[in-house]
Amino acid sequence: MTQPPTVRKTSPWPAVIAVGVLLMFGALFVAEMAQVSGGDTGLPPAEETLVADTYAEEVAALLADADPERGATHATRYGCTSCHTGAGAQNRLAPAWEGVATRAATRRPPLSAEAYLYESIVYPRAHEIEGYSGQMPLIYARTIPDEALGDLIAYLMTYEE
Ligand code: HEC
Repeated sequence: MTQPPTVRKTSPWPAVIAVGVLLMFGALFVAEMAQVSGGDTGLPPAEETLVADTYAEEVAALLADADPERGATHATRYGCTSCHTGAGAQNRLAPAWEGVATRAATRRPPLSAEAYLYESIVYPRAHEIEGYSGQMPLIYARTIPDEALGDLIAYLMTYEE
């Protein structure tokens, strides 16, 4: 007896699942891009709209109970020091923090030093620094709680020249 040739029926499920997974990643990607680059919070105010008071209210609130010593701990906890000091100091990764409080006062007029430091952390791409190519992570606006952000600014303000 010869068997009739078996026609292998492929199950549609793997394809359905693959398409589902792709759609899910697509949606995640779009959501992520919207967060990084868009909305009301993802972009700094335009350069020409900057005034001395830009960020002033937020920064004053953040600094009200800020503690530079806690800021030093946060700089390690959030990985800042891996690029900015220690092994990364004076290298191609990131500008060293020595004297940054003094430089911050003139980096982006009319912003105050504190406002500039705030902007540097929350909107790292707002201001280009010669010799660096915008490698600072964009996540901090979302991952650093307000209290720690204030502590970090207070800590950076201790780096005077
Ligand atoms: C992956 C490396 C990296 C990490 C991590 C990082 N930065 Fe940066 N940072 C940079 C680079 C590079 C610049 C220069 C601007 C640019 O190219 O984006 C910069 C610029 C700055 C500036 C402006 C310095 C100046 O001289 O004007 C400040 C302030 C700053 N970072 C603070 C922080 C803080 C606070 C953290 C942690 C919460 C942090 N950075 C984490 C790479 C990094």
